[in-house]
Amino acid sequence: MNPHVIELWSAICILVPLVGMAVVAKAQQSAPAPAAPGAASAFTLPALPYPQEALEPYISAKTMSFHYGKHHQTYVDNLNKLVAGTPWAAGVPLETIIVDCAGKADKAAVFNNAAQVWNHAFFWKSMKPGGGGQPTGRLMELIGKSFGSLDQFKAAFLAAGVGQFGSGWVWLVQDGNGLKIVATPNADSPLAHGQTALLTCDVWEHAYYLDYQNRRKDFVQAFLDHLANWDFATSQMKP
Ligand SMILES: [Fe+2]
Repeated sequence: MNPHVIELWSAICILVPLVGMAVVAKAQQSAPAPAAPGAASAFTLPALPYPQEALEPYISAKTMSFHYGKHHQTYVDNLNKLVAGTPWAAGVPLETIIVDCAGKADKAAVFNNAAQVWNHAFFWKSMKPGGGGQPTGRLMELIGKSFGSLDQFKAAFLAAGVGQFGSGWVWLVQDGNGLKIVATPNADSPLAHGQTALLTCDVWEHAYYLDYQNRRKDFVQAFLDHLANWDFATSQMKP
């Protein structure tokens, strides 16, 4: 065989596999990595800060088992499905996702589930066995300045919770140098509005229907009088 033909053939034999390997490597770089079977989920259900029966008789263990074990878990599961294969699955803080998706119609499902995961974790921490009573220190001072008295704060919080039409949340928030009570519909959260949440009560029916049926007012009153965790609220205050 002509030596030039032999050289050309040898070059083809070397180059073709190299080009093939380069194409495969490029494809592997640009394609999102598929989730490995059994890979850890991006978000997990945070542990309750107390046993499920700890808030009885004001919130029953049965309500907690559904509210925490079913509703909160479902928001976590739905969020993991929605963020799978997106940059959000790689350790992006929940708070960042909520702020990034707030007010964007095409991100409503991610926002709703992310905010509900965060709101519920905040709600569990807003309560404790033997809660209620009254806050102390700077928080008590600010409540006095913002609402007149603790009783006036409680009356306004109760009215906002009862007045929230349909599903939602009632919050005590720090806004600038003062405190405010805000009610948010559905999954909406003070996080999405640049406000610092201090305390919240879930007023979705699933939060109270098994224990209080349609008596939302009694549930919010019990939250204020027997469950509110003022130590947690104080810990959330900005300087
Ligand atoms: Fe809830």
